Amino acid sequence: MTDGTNTPSKIKYHFHDIAARIIQNIRSETESEAHQILRSYPGNENPTDASQNAAKIYGISTQSSTGVIYVMDRATERGFTYGNPEWANFGQGAPEVGHIDGCMDKPTEIAIDHSSLEYAPTSGIKPLREAVARLYNDLYRQEKESQYTWENVCIVPGGRAGLTRVASVIGDIVVGHFLPEYTAYEQMLGIFKRFVPIPTVLEEEAKYHIDPQTVKKEIIGRGLGLIVASNPRNPVGQVIEGEELKEMVEIARKRHTTLVMDEFYSAYIYSHPSEQNGRTVSISEFVDDVDHDPVVIIDGMTKNMRLPGWRVCWVVGPKSVITSLESSGSFLDGGANHPLQKAAIPLIEPSKYRNEAKYLQQHFRAKRDFVLKNLKEIGFNIKVPPEATFYIWLDVSELPEPINNGLAFFEECLKEKVILVPGIFFDVNPAHRRELFESPCHHFVRLSFGPEQKELEKGLAGIKRVVDKFKNEKK
Ligand SMILES: Cc1ncc(COP(=O)(O)O)c(C=O)c1O
Repeated sequence: MTDGTNTPSKIKYHFHDIAARIIQNIRSETESEAHQILRSYPGNENPTDASQNAAKIYGISTQSSTGVIYVMDRATERGFTYGNPEWANFGQGAPEVGHIDGCMDKPTEIAIDHSSLEYAPTSGIKPLREAVARLYNDLYRQEKESQYTWENVCIVPGGRAGLTRVASVIGDIVVGHFLPEYTAYEQMLGIFKRFVPIPTVLEEEAKYHIDPQTVKKEIIGRGLGLIVASNPRNPVGQVIEGEELKEMVEIARKRHTTLVMDEFYSAYIYSHPSEQNGRTVSISEFVDDVDHDPVVIIDGMTKNMRLPGWRVCWVVGPKSVITSLESSGSFLDGGANHPLQKAAIPLIEPSKYRNEAKYLQQHFRAKRDFVLKNLKEIGFNIKVPPEATFYIWLDVSELPEPINNGLAFFEECLKEKVILVPGIFFDVNPAHRRELFESPCHHFVRLSFGPEQKELEKGLAGIKRVVDKFKNEKK
């Protein structure tokens, strides 16, 4: 099934095909300054290059920089500071947090009562757990007999803490995931050595679609015990919904494979343009029995409520899973902060949540259309426009050399004070097995249209300058 390095041979050949296609004009990592800068960061050394031995502290293993950290470090070296109006930050995957017409204005002051000076339980305070259960039942499960209760909810200090708690309780099994995928999955899938992560590459030609029948084949062929995936998907902006999502649950139930669905962008949906009612997407709609169906959901206040700074998120799933997560929280992170858990309760009242999603979608749909239109005018060919999230997975392979790969384009954009994320960071690669030039994500960057309109305009102007400069040089 694997070639001994946990790399399924089928996938390896696939990478080589892609490499052959994109390497044509390019030589190798060693000839690209942008790639050498990346390789010079501790933890990012090329595993095949013995000369790259960074100074190490005995007993401490060096983690590679997660994509966003590397990106922000490089931007800071080029003069970026948070709040600097000269820069456009299309790198950090954060939604704008200010006023949006129709959305609620978030509290800027909260009362802290005496009881919230105490520790909160590591699974969260009961009233918030109840509020989350109510939200899912109301949005997705009104007709169902089996309903979520507070015991199906664990409050966690942020989405990544939720993912890490889940990863920490996964047993000795094979775990499937998809490429490209959210950058933090790299560390999350690599740090706990009990399970073996196996990637499935999603194809551009198939619009990065997760096909339930392929999932079934992967489960049977590779013996997957669990699958973890973002849906809607970061960075490609696609979404599985409706009948296909239902089919996924049926397959999981039948095959005893647990689905861990990261639904952080569940409110950023544009796939049905005629709908203006703020429809959100969650796999919970297709769960029959909340305590027996093997479905675990992660979401929170970070994106859908546009409160990334609060660090109040949740995991929803069978009671037995929640009990395990409660235990792992007691040594991993100690739980979400107490006062903001209380403050979150009124914000996720179902009717308020629906209204928020409705206006959020209108606002972000307009921004998406604006950015896509501008990128086309600059000369990009966007084959797979986003139907969800606030990301554009931008293919730079048709740009002139040397900016026809994600890392080099990223470095040039920094010079124009625009921050993007090079695509290779979404090639979740827990064991660092591959050459960067062989990655299927190598000729992409991720562009976030999370920032405000004014910042979008500034950043697009910067991208245009970069592209024009290299087009003119070529003439
Ligand atoms: C798919 C996905 N899951 C989880 C998260 C993490 O959210 P948090 O910032 O709450 O840790 C993000 C953030 O970018 C994300 O894109």
